[in-house]
Amino acid sequence: MLKLTAADLRNLPAETLAVPVCEDASIHPRGPVASLVRRALGYEEFIGKSGKELHLYDPPRFNVRRVIVFGIGPKDKVDAETLRSFAGKAVKTAIDWRLDSLCLEAPAPQKLGLDTRSLLKALMEGACLANHIYDRFKTDPKKNPLQTIYFRTSPGVAEAFSALPETVQTVCEAACLAREWVSDPSNEKTPALLAAAVKKRAQSAGLRVEVQEKETLKKNKMGALLAVAAGSENPPAMVLLDYAPKNPEKTVALVGKGITFDTGGYNLKPSNSLDGMKADMAGAAAVAGALLAAARLKPKIRVVAALPMVENMVSGAATRPGDIVSAYTGKTVEIGNTDAEGRLVLADAMAYVIDRYRPDMILDMATLTGACLVALGEKIAGVFSRDDRLAEVVLAAGEETHERCWRLPLPDDYKELLESKFADIRNIGSSRWGGAIAAALFLSEFVGETPWVHIDIAGPAYTKKGGDYCGPGGTGFGVRLLWEVLDRLRS
Ligand code: BES
Ligand code: MN
Ligand code: ZN
Repeated sequence: MLKLTAADLRNLPAETLAVPVCEDASIHPRGPVASLVRRALGYEEFIGKSGKELHLYDPPRFNVRRVIVFGIGPKDKVDAETLRSFAGKAVKTAIDWRLDSLCLEAPAPQKLGLDTRSLLKALMEGACLANHIYDRFKTDPKKNPLQTIYFRTSPGVAEAFSALPETVQTVCEAACLAREWVSDPSNEKTPALLAAAVKKRAQSAGLRVEVQEKETLKKNKMGALLAVAAGSENPPAMVLLDYAPKNPEKTVALVGKGITFDTGGYNLKPSNSLDGMKADMAGAAAVAGALLAAARLKPKIRVVAALPMVENMVSGAATRPGDIVSAYTGKTVEIGNTDAEGRLVLADAMAYVIDRYRPDMILDMATLTGACLVALGEKIAGVFSRDDRLAEVVLAAGEETHERCWRLPLPDDYKELLESKFADIRNIGSSRWGGAIAAALFLSEFVGETPWVHIDIAGPAYTKKGGDYCGPGGTGFGVRLLWEVLDRLRS
């Protein structure tokens, strides 16, 4: 649990205090912490450089057992992300030491040129996200999360931001849930199991939930989605979530790719590429997380979501390259490649959502293309939109949460890459190049005139080695981003 405190240092509710220190300037107001920092900087082994740590025991004038001093580098380079990392590292250290609580000393906002809210929010996010441990399948779990994390600040600030801990915690818990869904192995998250897990959480958060099973999807003529599902013994499911406040200002639709495992189908992936394909439902997990956050934080806009869940497998019943199927909109699609499955399920889910809810705008999030990974690497998502205003909202939200986004183009003349000799459109481009763009252009054919943004998270959805405030596995990328987007759209 996150708590703001203005407690005196002789009276701290935790036995351990973590203090961030810059190598070249004081960032704490005068007083015992400032003199402790001066003392710390006097030790040759600690110079405040980023990554340096010093542990002090039973410091005089502090009623704590230990203080961990963390170097965060030169003051001019400190931003919100530096503080998330600091908080994350401090929490991870405390978890390793088997502590059950920790207090983080908030630096003075004016000394860092940050506003108070962003500073506190960053510390809380880093701490809360780092306090998540995925050990569901360990028979002998070795680590426990901290029970309470305090953030020490002045009495005025603690009072003014008293509601912040709960808001941050709500969004970060949703992100951690998304991480778990992404990290879960595919044998434990078949479409039906994942749909049931999401339904359970959504219902307890107070969302309207509908799960459409294969028969309903067939009746609704979701031919593109069903073509992807054809090879699996585990039938598909589509979860619809609806957060509907009274008199909403607008309706926003979110759609997330939910491929619970992507073998590639008959265009089978090579061994190396199969690794990690349990994470191919990260878009759906992020969207589900954002809806859970909305259900608890209650914005004045309606948010509806569709999570198409499908397993892309091979069998005698699987779709073949060259097959032609009819999508929900009636468009015929030639399956040029069974591994380009994400765009097929998204095309049907998006068209269905637009038909059913008539949203003012639609955003989709998907681990859609390896090409996006090639272009932007493992930490940055690709953003595609014809609507500059909407794209700008997503990019700005990404800067705020440090879920970094980079806009890529949707050039009309590239559409010819998707021409099919036999059907209305083909699901892969005729060129080796520009794969992320070709995929986005394919999606654009199924959203009509509805303002739309596509976010390709193939890179940042999953991490093999983890980071300062994230363990190995699903990263929860997109949950805080989508919440931030919703928060910005409501005005
Ligand atoms: N799920 C993959 C994309 C992906 C690749 C996500 C690596 C995360 C890491 C997607 O379904 C896919 O296979 N895309 C193909 C498209 C191609 C066949 C046009 C790709 O990117 O190779
Ligand atoms: Mn694929
Ligand atoms: Zn895929």
